[in-house]
Amino acid sequence: MPLLHPALLAEPALLTDLASLTEPALPTGPAPVPPVPQQCLSDEPGQVDLRTLRTLTAALAAHPQVWRPVIRHRADRRWYTRLLLSATVEVWLIGWCPGQQTEIHDHGGALGALTVVEGQVEEDRFDRAWSLTGVRAHRPGASVGFGIRHVHRVANRSTHLATTIHAYSPPELPLRYSPTDSGAAGTTPVATAPDQVAPTYTPAGVTLPATRPGGALVTR
Ligand SMILES: [Fe+2]
Repeated sequence: MPLLHPALLAEPALLTDLASLTEPALPTGPAPVPPVPQQCLSDEPGQVDLRTLRTLTAALAAHPQVWRPVIRHRADRRWYTRLLLSATVEVWLIGWCPGQQTEIHDHGGALGALTVVEGQVEEDRFDRAWSLTGVRAHRPGASVGFGIRHVHRVANRSTHLATTIHAYSPPELPLRYSPTDSGAAGTTPVATAPDQVAPTYTPAGVTLPATRPGGALVTR
């Protein structure tokens, strides 16, 4: 069984492929919100595609009754909790105060997607040698996907709180961090730096709960 945050368990309709059970919606009123794709709840290990991940984060973002009661924003650190863990995906809800950001990282070979549900975040993009290649601003409602070689840093550089939902497939692959950004020695490119996997990365001065088997920590 996938692990579901209690906020998701309270929304069974969101977890059901209603489109297969009902007549097509009339073309009036707001566009129907897609349910969580069923392959995202699978017990069989596998990988879903980018479109599915974006659909997943957008579906959850469109249901504020799921994330609104759960989200927190903490001035002392970036706040996050896992909404879903199945054999194919993991989903994180993240609260960003102004000035908070991730380190430069990849996703260990996983596909990823994020949807901005409130506020806005900026995404610094890097190549596999950890060199900056561009910056993109993601506004409320934006959904973006990440390929398996994607390297980035996400930051809230606004003066307002931001909230985002992130999904990754396969789940629980260890992130890899820029050696210069994390303070480690060396400048080895991501693609040839398996020793740069950060299984127990914790922001300085902050004690956070372990979220992986074995005590490793996920900060997406
Ligand atoms: Fe990331």
